[in-house]
Amino acid sequence: MARLAGKTAIITGAGSGIGLATATLFAEEGANVVICDLNKEACGKAAKSITDAAGSALAMPMDVTSEADWQTAFTKAADQYGRVDVLMNCAGVGDQTPIEDTTVEIYNKVCDVNLKGVFLGCKYAIRHMKHRGRDLQMGSIINVSSTAGFVGTARAGIYTMSKGGVRLFSKAVAVEVAEFGYHIRCNSLHPGGTVTPMFDGSLATRNISQEKFAELVKRRNLLGRRAEPVEIAYGALFLASDESSFMTGTELALDGGYAAR
Ligand SMILES: NC(=O)c1ccc[n+]([C@@H]2O[C@H](COP(=O)([O-])OP(=O)(O)OC[C@H]3O[C@@H](n4cnc5c(N)ncnc54)[C@H](O)[C@@H]3O)[C@@H](O)[C@H]2O)c1
Repeated sequence: MARLAGKTAIITGAGSGIGLATATLFAEEGANVVICDLNKEACGKAAKSITDAAGSALAMPMDVTSEADWQTAFTKAADQYGRVDVLMNCAGVGDQTPIEDTTVEIYNKVCDVNLKGVFLGCKYAIRHMKHRGRDLQMGSIINVSSTAGFVGTARAGIYTMSKGGVRLFSKAVAVEVAEFGYHIRCNSLHPGGTVTPMFDGSLATRNISQEKFAELVKRRNLLGRRAEPVEIAYGALFLASDESSFMTGTELALDGGYAAR
């Protein structure tokens, strides 16, 4: 049986990279997927490729920093599919500016998307999922952090701050929903360097050659390579499915061993 049969998942940042790979995999595993992204065209394209492959998908262009957009997303998803079982907060932005050169505009942009977006997603997921019947398995919230949620990195100060925040906020969500008696789990997911437009963009910004980068990866990452997006999506699949039914308030690291030393 498909691992997400009968479930509906809202995935943000699903127009590209890790979010797109996750939406595709979730649909293959039987979920209805709600494809949320700021990029309207990418949203439509992702939803079409899933429905063309006989999957179930709804395109939902939205800005994760907008409270009104979150309200609409949950309302439309529930109207279309009856209820939402999984939320994956995957939308994020990176930044490579040294701290001494970081402007308040950069700070606001990174924190708005990476922190406020996750906060609002959790807020509306809790409001929606708290009414979940005990006849169902628990609702699952997956917040995408990073290896930057575990260790510091040069030229990623505000990004690191935001991803550390995502990690601890996920624990706060898990504790609160448990104390309030809601039928919800929440965990953070920590990808290492993954082959996506975001990562390639950061290489370009830092003017690092592929050769120098390969050397850096070998030194830092025990597996000596970057992840493919689908390798991160498999972790999200585990967290979304009932296979992780005893897991809440903790981290799943898929980082090739990056944070081990
Ligand atoms: N790629 C990596 O190496 C890596 C490593 C660790 C963590 N991550 C995290 O994984 C997540 C996905 O990253 P990715 O590499 O797939 O990036 P990506 O750039 O390929 O995709 C991110 C998506 O988020 C969307 N987005 C940005 N701002 C948004 C907003 N305000 N509202 C809605 N959507 C918005 C973008 O349009 C884009 O489609 C991010 O949270 C990122 O921080 C990535």
